[in-house]
Amino acid sequence: MNKYWMFYYFNLDSMIGDVNLYLNDPDDIHGAEIEVMIADPSHRSKGKGKEALLFMLRYGTEALSITKFTAKIKMKNNTSLKLFSNIGFAEVNRSEVFLEIEMVFESSKKWRDELISKTQMYKIENYI
Ligand SMILES: CC(C)(COP(=O)(O)OP(=O)(O)OC[C@H]1O[C@@H](n2cnc3c(N)ncnc32)[C@H](O)[C@@H]1OP(=O)(O)O)[C@@H](O)C(=O)NCCC(=O)NCCS
Repeated sequence: MNKYWMFYYFNLDSMIGDVNLYLNDPDDIHGAEIEVMIADPSHRSKGKGKEALLFMLRYGTEALSITKFTAKIKMKNNTSLKLFSNIGFAEVNRSEVFLEIEMVFESSKKWRDELISKTQMYKIENYI
């Protein structure tokens, strides 16, 4: 499994969460699973989860040529469901066993243009 990841600092001294892309399917090089977590509760509901997610969607789209993003979200996680659906993800599957909703988003030219305008601080830096 290849995993691309980006930690999110937002001008802070310590990490507050992470956003990840998983390239799980070697037969689908344009598909990826995405997840985001703001681990520090004091930093939630301040727009940081959404911003981190948008940055990673841009990275996946531009740097990795991903066109289809999948997210698996717990049914009771209303904040996350709202976050992903407001961006354009749509429910495609519901697992009563795992109590999870699978949401999918397929990018388009119009959406990519919108994404660029919403992520003007986006840049890639090497930390080696
Ligand atoms: C879910 C999570 C990533 C959202 O990040 P966040 O920084 O707290 O949320 P944001 O401030 O960026 O808001 C994202 C959206 O959720 C909504 N939202 C934020 N806090 C909310 C709350 N307490 N109740 C309801 N909706 C809320 C916002 O209105 C926003 O919607 P918008 O698209 O209209 O702007 C974060 O709260 C978190 O990590 N929670 C715990 C772990 C988790 O659930 N991870 C998700 C796994 S996929």
